[in-house]
Formats: sequence, structure tokens, C-alpha cells
Amino acid sequence: MNEKYLEYKELIEKHLLDFLPDIDHKSITLYESMKYSLTAGGKRLRPVLMLASCEFAGGKVNDALPYACAMEYIQTYSLIHDDLPAMDDDDLRRGVPTNHKVFGDAIAILAGDGLLNTAFECMNKDMFLYFDEPEMLKRRVKASYEIAKGAGCRGMVAGQVADIEAEGKKCSKEMLEYMCINKTSALIVAAVRAGLMLGGADDTMLENLTKYAECIGLAFQIEDDLLDVLGDAAELGKQTGMDAERDKSTYPALYGIENSQKRLEELYEAAQGYIAPYYDNAEFFNDIIGMLKNRRK
Ligand code: IPE
Ligand code: IPE
Ligand code: MG
Ligand code: MG
Ligand code: MG
Repeated sequence: MNEKYLEYKELIEKHLLDFLPDIDHKSITLYESMKYSLTAGGKRLRPVLMLASCEFAGGKVNDALPYACAMEYIQTYSLIHDDLPAMDDDDLRRGVPTNHKVFGDAIAILAGDGLLNTAFECMNKDMFLYFDEPEMLKRRVKASYEIAKGAGCRGMVAGQVADIEAEGKKCSKEMLEYMCINKTSALIVAAVRAGLMLGGADDTMLENLTKYAECIGLAFQIEDDLLDVLGDAAELGKQTGMDAERDKSTYPALYGIENSQKRLEELYEAAQGYIAPYYDNAEFFNDIIGMLKNRRK
């Protein structure tokens, strides 16, 4: 991890619990369950990308911080639900037993619901402070819409449905692409776009970096699929070999390992092309590509 990545990650982790609402002590199980998965670790890739994108566009990190935390609440909720017996039925996540293994299925479902709603609570909480600053208000409204869209029925949730429906059969390559673009790329794209919007990016920057995020977002899921075959469970903090066991439609299953690796190289090259106009200013985004590549090493 490069220094800047670590800096953003530390900032996010320092404030990750700040935006959880105060809840009645009678709901302490809900709080404990949400906190358990939030603090178990994780790469924090999406919120880090958001902070970096905001700064890249000329904005202040602090303006994007609640949105970055919201991103991580959504990411964590998606993982809690993804691991449930009714979905991927996994026992290990972020190096510890999955949420439902500790708190039971019902509380795990509710902790996911709680995290998703907390994301929208924290993005909207201070909106009224900007009523006299129309430009800042506009940026925040646009960012929260972008995040809702990426996480929802035209993004992550749609992709997760495609993933479940493709289980036990070999789906078409077109369907596989649709699945990965939605279940994984949509949230990564939303993180970058929302960050750029909060920072006040112009249309050209928004267009280029959106394309960049689409490439690395799809690559991220292909890498994840490959790591499920080639990776190490202890390093990943989650079990490997589960996609094959569940007969999931994945890149290695449909294209083979070598062709999946070739596709990755194409995606990384395309991603580099979209940030090339920014020369050294886009070094952070270039380093992200290096980091993704290194996960398999
Ligand atoms: C896992 O995401 C789910 C996928 C989209 C493949 P990450 O690999 O980013 O998981 P954490 O957040 O670091 O635990
Ligand atoms: C999940 O993809 C993507 C999500 C939206 C959570 P996977 O099911 O492959 O993610 P892992 O391998 O369990 O992390
Ligand atoms: Mg899944
Ligand atoms: Mg899974
Ligand atoms: Mg996976």
C-alpha cells in the first residue's frame, strides 16, 4: 500500500464509528453486530478512492469524509448479506467468522439493513448546513444520488441478483459482464464519481475518471474471481475455492485463468489511458492499478 493510501485509510478508520447513530441501549445487539463487521478490517478501497477523487478534483478531504464512511457502511452491509446462508453461505470474512456465524442470520440481516440506512443518514444529516451555499449543496445532493444509484437496483443489488441466478449454470459471457459491472464495479464507480462531484470536478475529468473506474471496477471482480482459485485464505481473510464449490459463474469458470489474466491486462491498460492526460497528478490512481495487480503476486 502506498503512503497516501494508508493516510486515507487511517483517516477513514479513525472516523468510521463517528457517524453511527446513537441508539437506545435496548438495541445494543444491533450496534455490536454493525460494529463487529465494520471494525474487522478490510481494504477500504471504495472510501479511499472517494477521498482521493475529491482531492484530485480540488476538494477538501473533510468534505468527503461522511460520504466515504457511508461508502464503507454500504460495502460492509453488502458483504454481511453476501455471506448469508441464503446467498454465498460463507464462514469467514475479513479474517474473522462471518456476521451471521456470530450473531445469527436474523441479526446479520438487520445489521446489514442498519448499515445501509446509516449510510443515508450520515450523508443527509448535515445537508441543511449548506442551504445558503447552493454550489456545495448541489455537490452533496449529486454525490448522495450517485451512491444510491450505484448501490441499488441499477447497480450492486441488480448484480447480486444476477450472481445468484447464474449459480449452478454457465451464464452467457454477456450476462457475466453485466453481473460483474453491477455487483462490483457500480460501487467503485460511484465512489470515484461521488468523490469527484464533491470536489467540484469538470465534465472532462468526470468522464475520464468514470471510464478509469469502470475499468478498475471490472478488473477488481476478475481479480477477486482469480484469487478465489489462486489465492491464500489467510491472506485474503476469506475462504478460497468457494466459487467452484458453489458452481458460480465467474471469469475463470467461463474464460479460463489465462484469458482472464489477458482481460485484466487490457483493462489496466485502458484504465491507464484514461488517467494519462493528468500526468503525475494522477500518480495515486496509477498506483491503485499496481496495487490491484500485486494482489495476485
Ligand atoms: C469484496 O470486496 C467483495 C467484492 C466486490 C469482490 P473487497 O475485497 O473490497 O472486501 P473488503 O472490503 O476489503 O473486505
Ligand atoms: C460479491 O462478490 C460482491 C458484493 C457485492 C458483495 P463475491 O461474492 O465474489 O465477493 P466475495 O468473494 O464473497 O468477497
Ligand atoms: Mg457473492
Ligand atoms: Mg461472496
Ligand atoms: Mg468472490
